[in-house]
Amino acid sequence: MIAKTPFGVTVNGAAVDLYQLTNAQGMQVKIITYGGIITSIRVPDSFGNMANVVLGYPTLSDYERLSDPYFGALIGRYANRLAKGKFTLDGKEYQLSVNDGLNTLHGGKTGFDKVVWNAVSSAHGLTLSHRSPDGDNGFPGSLMVTVAYTLTDDNALHLEYSATTDQPTVVNLTNHAYFNLSGEGTRDIYDHILRINADHFTKSDSQLIPTGEIAPVECTALDFRVPKAIGTGVRSNDPQIVAARGYDHNWVLNQTEPPSLITAARLYDPHSGRILEVLTDQIGLQFYSGNFLTGVGYGSSGRSYRQSDGLALETQHYPDSPNRPEFPSTVLRPGETYRTTTIYKFSTVRA
Ligand code: GLA
Repeated sequence: MIAKTPFGVTVNGAAVDLYQLTNAQGMQVKIITYGGIITSIRVPDSFGNMANVVLGYPTLSDYERLSDPYFGALIGRYANRLAKGKFTLDGKEYQLSVNDGLNTLHGGKTGFDKVVWNAVSSAHGLTLSHRSPDGDNGFPGSLMVTVAYTLTDDNALHLEYSATTDQPTVVNLTNHAYFNLSGEGTRDIYDHILRINADHFTKSDSQLIPTGEIAPVECTALDFRVPKAIGTGVRSNDPQIVAARGYDHNWVLNQTEPPSLITAARLYDPHSGRILEVLTDQIGLQFYSGNFLTGVGYGSSGRSYRQSDGLALETQHYPDSPNRPEFPSTVLRPGETYRTTTIYKFSTVRA
């Protein structure tokens, strides 16, 4: 079931709507047309009590003013960082808008998280679309993007992304939901137990740009092959963790042959019994432990968020791939269709 209500008007005068998806089990997902932001996901704990398990803000004006954390937003044209805000494609260098020191983060100053998307709803979901013009934040080609959100009766939210272009370009799309399975604003996520299906990660420098090295997770704080509590490693002395102030890295997901949807990560909260599984066909996963949440503004239920009050699991291609020929390509050419799927699947277990 889908209900649509007005969510306000942007500073530029564009009307924004909120769509509420509800499934047969009573799970509820709220999405706004501004940034395609998932503002709320209400799922039961192991006793059936519902809570919102994603971070967000109460008003549109909060999302516009306090956009730094990218709460719940669609991220494009290029999720994560592009070194020095540049890349070269077919011999031509493109200068992008920079918004993270000298680098481009999450598509630049006015990424997809700040766009009012066109919406079409159906019985089980919502499809958002947007045409990003040639030269948008410096990226070449007019890019047509659609993102379909579907809520299924087994408590799974499917995100299906697609994009086409009229000129060669690069694309890397994701969603930036921050999860707290105890409930948004209730406690930190240090006790959450995480498993990541990856033997390797891309090492990064002090600006969180990949060095090019694909390193084993073995014997590092980044080893989540066996489930462990996030709090055990988030303050470790591992230089990778110190540089990022916690976890903020790209894991190289173990692939199946032939490639298919895999369970990239499984997150379990012993306090509520809630479980989140992230399934994807993407090759990378940024696990970000909310290191830069600084208590600015108030979240959906009126509490401010600080470091480790939520965590993001961003399915993606590796950061800075356009500048790393050794990484799998993110180039999209006319006539091709970029397609990727990520599923957030919720369940519970009695603690
Ligand atoms: C990503 C980055 C982080 C941070 C957040 C947004 O997860 O990797 O460093 O910029 O987005 O605050």
